[in-house]
Amino acid sequence: MNIILLGPPGAGKGTQARRLVEDRQMIQLSTGDMLRAARTSGTDMGKRVAAVMDRGELVTDEIVIGLIREHLTNDQPAAGYIFDGFPRTLAQADALGNLLAELGENLDRVIEMRVDDEVLVARITARSTCKNCGEVYNDATKSIPADHVCTNCGEKTEFIRRADDNADSLKTRLLAYYKQTSPLVGYYYARGDLTSVDGLASMEDVAAQIKKALA
Ligand code: AP5
Repeated sequence: MNIILLGPPGAGKGTQARRLVEDRQMIQLSTGDMLRAARTSGTDMGKRVAAVMDRGELVTDEIVIGLIREHLTNDQPAAGYIFDGFPRTLAQADALGNLLAELGENLDRVIEMRVDDEVLVARITARSTCKNCGEVYNDATKSIPADHVCTNCGEKTEFIRRADDNADSLKTRLLAYYKQTSPLVGYYYARGDLTSVDGLASMEDVAAQIKKALA
């Protein structure tokens, strides 16, 4: 089963993707994580996209489609792919359809995660991650342990905030979502692939809604 998690920044795509990986052994393909990894390892591409990402703008279709192509041909999952943060434009959606067709695979479901804008801002400005394992924390729901020992990996570590999790970049990310990505909601609805879930619910409840949509 191959699915897309579609939603604005902070909708909970990464949170739910990690749950699906654990519960169903699916493979998470997050273009945001791939781009951040390229920045950290200092590749030419990573250097080129750094400023664009920090401003909150979209990286070019060519780069992100290339990243997805690389990962789709390298992995052959039995349980399927979770596309997290991809596609984000109609050109990316078309490219994904073609890539899956080349592999003889289908897109089974697109899950739209709906969350009010003011909640997105609150979630994102409260988010931090463990520098060692990437475990996500949030000042509102799961605060950083007082002893700075990560509850997931057990390491005493730093908890970092993303460079694009600030008010200015977030405004640009939201604009990019509404201008370039939200047309995909209508696109996938018209194809009969879309299920919308209430992303304002608790993480457990959102997971249950997604489970029902994939049954
Ligand atoms: P990307 O990394 O994809 O970021 P994003 O889409 O902005 O999404 P986030 O990771 O911020 O949020 P999320 O929906 O995963 O929420 P999370 O689960 O963390 O992209 C970053 C940048 O890379 C882009 O701006 C762009 O520059 C570039 N890029 C990436 N893909 C691209 C593409 N395809 N094309 C072009 N450019 C691309 O949750 C957020 C917080 O809320 C967490 O703290 C979490 O604990 C909390 N939370 C989650 N669910 C709940 C809940 N139900 N209740 C309460 N709190 C919750």
